[in-house]
Amino acid sequence: MRTKLEQIRKEAQDALEKLNVLNELDSFRIEFLGKKGKLTQILRGMGSLPPEERPKIGQLANEIRAYLEQEIERKTRQLEEAALNQRLKDEAIDVTMPGKRYYRGKLHPLSIVLNEIKDIFLGLGFEIAEGPEVELDYYNFEALNIPKNHPARDTQDTFYITENILLRTHTSPTQIRVMERQKPPIKIIVPGRVYRSDEVDATHSPIFHQVEGLVIDRNITMGDLKGTLDVFAKEMFGPRTRTQFRPHYFPFTEPSAEMDVSCASCDGVGCRVCSYTGWIEILGAGMVHPKVLMYGGIDPNEYSGFAFGMGLDRITNLKYGIDDIRLLFENDIRFLEQF
Ligand code: PHE
Repeated sequence: MRTKLEQIRKEAQDALEKLNVLNELDSFRIEFLGKKGKLTQILRGMGSLPPEERPKIGQLANEIRAYLEQEIERKTRQLEEAALNQRLKDEAIDVTMPGKRYYRGKLHPLSIVLNEIKDIFLGLGFEIAEGPEVELDYYNFEALNIPKNHPARDTQDTFYITENILLRTHTSPTQIRVMERQKPPIKIIVPGRVYRSDEVDATHSPIFHQVEGLVIDRNITMGDLKGTLDVFAKEMFGPRTRTQFRPHYFPFTEPSAEMDVSCASCDGVGCRVCSYTGWIEILGAGMVHPKVLMYGGIDPNEYSGFAFGMGLDRITNLKYGIDDIRLLFENDIRFLEQF
């Protein structure tokens, strides 16, 4: 019996040695120390021993039990520690590794400047209107007092879709669309994309952006036009900005003008940005032609109005000192990141 016990101790030691997974310890405990375990089994046979042997064997069995329990305890701690070390190793973060770069989304420079323009005009009581980019010849030309063989059509290099449908060459057709659905007072700006089949270069793109303006009410005068656009220019380019109006021609306004702002780069002295003139042209404007009011269903004897159209791309480039319009459309992240 003694040898059997020693055998079990040996067997248990070997088994424990090989054991290297934490949850195998439970089955080990059951195998040796459980109710039907090997040690218990032996002790069941104690009855057949001579009485004087029993205490000694009992003592030995208890010793072995205590020893095995202690070993299980030791092994548990050892395996737990090993598991923890493995986890720490697996989850270690190498802080010297180069990081991943996450790009943060930004507004396109055109959006930034358009938002500024909207803010300025909303502050002056304007509302924002929109019109379709695929437009009828009627709205783009006819109703703006540009009949079929009018020379102004040649200057516009229109993309035609059919004989009567085209990509709008300016945002002015929305003037008519708004007049058709809204009675004066009208006070709107119309931002949007426009199209002309121009050759691409540093100052031309077949797609560009305009912001149209239209004000119609009783007794609107050229003074209202000049005052509104002068306030706009000072808000947009700074309080030192001066404006000048030069006579011009548009079929849909009479009289018509182009507005220049004093060059913000040189304060009007003359520099490369303004071609040494001190002035930079930023928009076309004029008093809405009576015929155009009539096309819009508004009586020119009762109402008058002014309209203007500015190039958003050009104003954006001026504000940021960008010298090539193509940069606005190429979406090169190295360019866009800078705003
Ligand atoms: N539509 C004109 C253009 O594209 C600009 C303009 C708008 C002029 C409104 C006068 C009034 O050049």
